[in-house]
Amino acid sequence: MSEKMPASITLAATGQCIEFKAGDQCALQCLETKKIPVSYQCREGYCGACRATLIAGNVHYNEEPLAFVREGEILLCCCKPNGAITINI
Ligand code: FES
Repeated sequence: MSEKMPASITLAATGQCIEFKAGDQCALQCLETKKIPVSYQCREGYCGACRATLIAGNVHYNEEPLAFVREGEILLCCCKPNGAITINI
């Protein structure tokens, strides 16, 4: 059995590292618990307002988002980090 790396989100701009807890539904909610201002509208993966740049690491989606996501971008409202990630919001 392999041990999972603890999930976290580091903000490239400030270096702040936020732990992604098991109860967090998505990266957006995780950032909100730390009062990090993040743009959003639908919170369901179709408007693209929560788009962020993924600098390091990778994420997974519970459901494939409908909004267009370019290589190197993620939608914070519907993804969870796989281990440690670094983003620009
Ligand atoms: S808030 Fe609409 S896609 Fe994330």
